[in-house]
Amino acid sequence: MQKIRVELGERSYNIIIDSHILDGIGEKLKGFGFSPPIAIISNPTVYGLYGERVQVSIKNAGFDTITVIIPDGEEYKDLLWAQHIYGELLKHGLDRASTLIALGGGVIGDITGFVASTYMRGIDYIQVPTTLLAQVDSSVGGKTGVNHRLGKNMIGTFYQPKLVWIDVDTLKTLPRRELLAGLAEVIKYGVIWDEGLFKFLDDNKDRVLNIDRDALTHIIKRSCEIKAEVVSKDEKEMGLRAILNYGHTIGHAIETATEYTRYLHGEAVAIGMHLEARLSLMLNFIDENQAARIKTLIDSYGLPSEMPVDININSILSSMQLDKKAVAGELKFILPEKIGVAKIYKGIPTENMKAAISKCSLRL
Ligand SMILES: NC(=O)c1ccc[n+]([C@@H]2O[C@H](COP(=O)([O-])OP(=O)(O)OC[C@H]3O[C@@H](n4cnc5c(N)ncnc54)[C@H](O)[C@@H]3O)[C@@H](O)[C@H]2O)c1
Ligand SMILES: [Zn+2]
Repeated sequence: MQKIRVELGERSYNIIIDSHILDGIGEKLKGFGFSPPIAIISNPTVYGLYGERVQVSIKNAGFDTITVIIPDGEEYKDLLWAQHIYGELLKHGLDRASTLIALGGGVIGDITGFVASTYMRGIDYIQVPTTLLAQVDSSVGGKTGVNHRLGKNMIGTFYQPKLVWIDVDTLKTLPRRELLAGLAEVIKYGVIWDEGLFKFLDDNKDRVLNIDRDALTHIIKRSCEIKAEVVSKDEKEMGLRAILNYGHTIGHAIETATEYTRYLHGEAVAIGMHLEARLSLMLNFIDENQAARIKTLIDSYGLPSEMPVDININSILSSMQLDKKAVAGELKFILPEKIGVAKIYKGIPTENMKAAISKCSLRL
């Protein structure tokens, strides 16, 4: 069992990583002093696979449970479904001492965290992430939220969970494409923070892709350690935390340009990581060999790395400009300097950037 502490003063919490621990969640909850009922928030896909085990475990530990199921999909991460969850919690009499359990991927984790942060001015919640993306990224760090018609994740809070409970065995049922998309975020941690993790991914491709328990436990642990360290230093993204957005400036723009239908988030980030490494190369922050290693690793995991041919550079630039408004008027790029080290770079003049991004991909 791996245990990582996210140090945030009185809001500190543990991340527990192991295999076959879903059935242990009930026992674990005993130590927290929550008052029943405990609400499990999930979707039909994940609940069908793991819901009963979690529910039985909690019941056996002496807590009543209620279950709130919302449909499976990003489009249901909105205020309407948050409202539905509030309604169920009120109907079943959950009060300020009650607790929510988010059982699912990032969608369930984000909406559950958001509801927890606002229900009766804030109640406790626990993350039980079941996708790789949620295990290495979204369940840790306390960013919660729902989407608005005018923008993704535009309504949200910073609100830390009380515990993150990761059972790596749940990844065995995850569709391959979702697994690879989660791996893009793991590659990201390697590039920005830890050359050792990057090398591990390079040396252990088969084990990782075959869901070898120890290999996955290792990469999830390292990813969570890195995220915990960054979040502890900069919980509300005033500075350092932005480093976790490597690949995301261009990645988000690609998601927007393709209307969130062509790529999974991690796939768009994979393209973004390659292009941002190229941008770094053009600005002479990284050498050719290191930039090439990044692309090679992305490719070797079967992730996309090239800008799609039919995307117009102007649409990429204009959605980056829109994104910029959301981040206090400054367009930030996270640019790798070598594997394991990256810097936050602001103020690339638009024209230079356009030239650089154009040259980044021959196909543009
Ligand atoms: N809060 C943050 O810091 C943060 C960070 C990154 C992403 N996010 C958010 O996370 C969301 C994406 O999360 P995601 O990639 O986990 O997507 P997701 O939650 O939609 O899950 C992907 C799919 O996998 C299914 N699934 C989940 N676990 C499974 C399992 N073990 N076996 C089989 N199927 C399973 C889900 O039902 C879904 O169909 C986005 O809304 C994004 O905005 C949040
Ligand atoms: Zn991401």
